Amino acid sequence: MNIIKGSEQVRKAARDYQNYSSDLQGDQDVRDYKQLPLEVDPPDHTALRDLLNPWFSKDSVAKFEPEFRSIAKGLINSFEHEVEVTHELALQMIVQCLGVVFGRPQDVEEWFSWGPDTWITDEDGIRHGDHLDRYLKKTFDELDENPTDDLFGVLNKAEIAGRALTRKEKYGMANLVLAGGRDTVVKLMSGSLWHLANNKEHLNKLKTQPELLPEFINEMVRFLSPLPMMHRVDVAATENKDEPVYAWLSFISANQDSSVIENPEEIRLDRGANPHLGFGYGRHSCIGMHLAQLETKIVLEEWLARFTNWEVLSDSELFFDFEEYKFIPSRFHNLHLKLNT
Ligand code: HEM
Repeated sequence: MNIIKGSEQVRKAARDYQNYSSDLQGDQDVRDYKQLPLEVDPPDHTALRDLLNPWFSKDSVAKFEPEFRSIAKGLINSFEHEVEVTHELALQMIVQCLGVVFGRPQDVEEWFSWGPDTWITDEDGIRHGDHLDRYLKKTFDELDENPTDDLFGVLNKAEIAGRALTRKEKYGMANLVLAGGRDTVVKLMSGSLWHLANNKEHLNKLKTQPELLPEFINEMVRFLSPLPMMHRVDVAATENKDEPVYAWLSFISANQDSSVIENPEEIRLDRGANPHLGFGYGRHSCIGMHLAQLETKIVLEEWLARFTNWEVLSDSELFFDFEEYKFIPSRFHNLHLKLNT
């Protein structure tokens, strides 16, 4: 596997779409369309991303702060002595906030039922995507009949380069905005509460200085690297081959690169400049970063206001990365906390 590592090398490759192209289709076991604008190069990338920009800019997301806060309060105030964070808090918060931002509260229950990964994995470890295919078909069929001005309604009417989007392009855009901010944000929220359960000094500091939360969240995005690697087609290596040869951009290695981050294995509240690549780099960098940061900040503010401290219960199931990154949690299957008010 060709893995590109280190802050400078990853930035260089992320800028160079002629040699490291995003023109590919991943997850072929569960979908037969591209996730957009992720899996395409300019000029289509630019046009498709421009359609989403108005929904995800810092200012447009900030307008929803009161609704996000009321969702967070409702969830957090319902917990008494214990909570399973990944589903009862993180995923609930995420799908309800998406319902607000996308203007589709009627779909929230269905989005929640898919779980943190969007794809459903059965007991044999086989992933399924048919529930999502059914949802996308039903949604865009309905929008053809009854046009709306919510995010999917706008995508249904959108044009690029003077033509309407194809059905598969619409599916690819809707799929990615539903999938991109689920397991990543679950990991960020769960990882932040896991760290504060284990580090009372940071907990006390954030309680007395909640204005440090954005910096803490940024540091947790770096440390956790919720999306550790993404692939590109290695154009030179693919020449004369039947199948694409991939190169992997290792964002996690860039976030652990000691030439740009001092003692990267430590979680610090006072890093100041934090040149991490947790949200990627360049034209494909995360369009949902403002949404992820705001959702997480509000959850942590409301959580810190309600609970004095909390402990991780032993039936929690969390998995760690491998080898050089084995101190970094890679997945919170569930995070069961005992709460003290
Ligand atoms: C902590 C939370 C998140 C992390 C760590 C994260 C990470 C990333 C990274 C590393 C990329 C770049 C992928 C690449 O270069 O191949 C990316 C792209 C993307 N993310 Fe996120 N993401 C998060 C939350 C979200 C949210 C909340 C949404 C939307 C609801 C979202 C939607 C997207 C989209 C649409 C792209 C593709 C952008 C493009 O190709 O132009 N992400 N994300």
